[in-house]
Amino acid sequence: MVEVLPSILSADFARLGEEIARVEKAGVSMLHVDVMDGHFVPNLTLGPPVVQSIRKITRLTLDVHLMITDPDRYAPIFIEAGAGMVSVHQEVCPHLDRTLRMIQSEGALAGVVLNPSTPVSTLDEVLDVADYVLIMSVNPGFGGQRFLPNSLKKVRELDARRRSLRRHLPIEIDGGVGLDNIGEIARAGVDWVVAGSSVFRSADPESAVKNLQQAAREATALSA
Ligand code: DX5
Ligand code: ZN
Repeated sequence: MVEVLPSILSADFARLGEEIARVEKAGVSMLHVDVMDGHFVPNLTLGPPVVQSIRKITRLTLDVHLMITDPDRYAPIFIEAGAGMVSVHQEVCPHLDRTLRMIQSEGALAGVVLNPSTPVSTLDEVLDVADYVLIMSVNPGFGGQRFLPNSLKKVRELDARRRSLRRHLPIEIDGGVGLDNIGEIARAGVDWVVAGSSVFRSADPESAVKNLQQAAREATALSA
């Protein structure tokens, strides 16, 4: 079943606890946390102390998306702070196999992320190591951007690869997801859908999550 992961990037950071409680009520199990360093992407967000504070106020699994140039240095610190899942960008990991295994040995699920311009084939040699793959459907750095349709081609390609490997490898997508496209995204084979502005910029984040979940469920039920 497709799961929606609210991204707190578009939440009101002054009321973060309340915002998280609202999406928790919608029945999600994971929360997406965007970490940006102002180098790998042209924006800055938050660091380990914020993850540590979030860890104390929710039972949700924290999916920390590292948009930083040195994930080897910081991944263990985010895991220590409470991240249960950590994803790193292929583009900044010359020793990707080692980085993924390091994240696992530190006690978190290890994800690998592809920018829109990075082909799926770059992951061929780590598909048996990674715990999940995140396909960026916008160029990372900001919430509220338009979904890039080419990402669905990449999802289908990865779906075919994991089937041929007979590997359980969840596919996550991030950026520009809303009610208008979640059906198509779910049908392409995505398991985990990150949603930022379509959840937290809506008047009622709890209903927004439920509506997204329902649209994904209906789309996959129809194609089944
Ligand atoms: C963008 C971040 C996303 C962001 C998505 O670089 O990685 O997680 O929150 O936001 P929306 O859903 O608004 O595109
Ligand atoms: Zn993200």
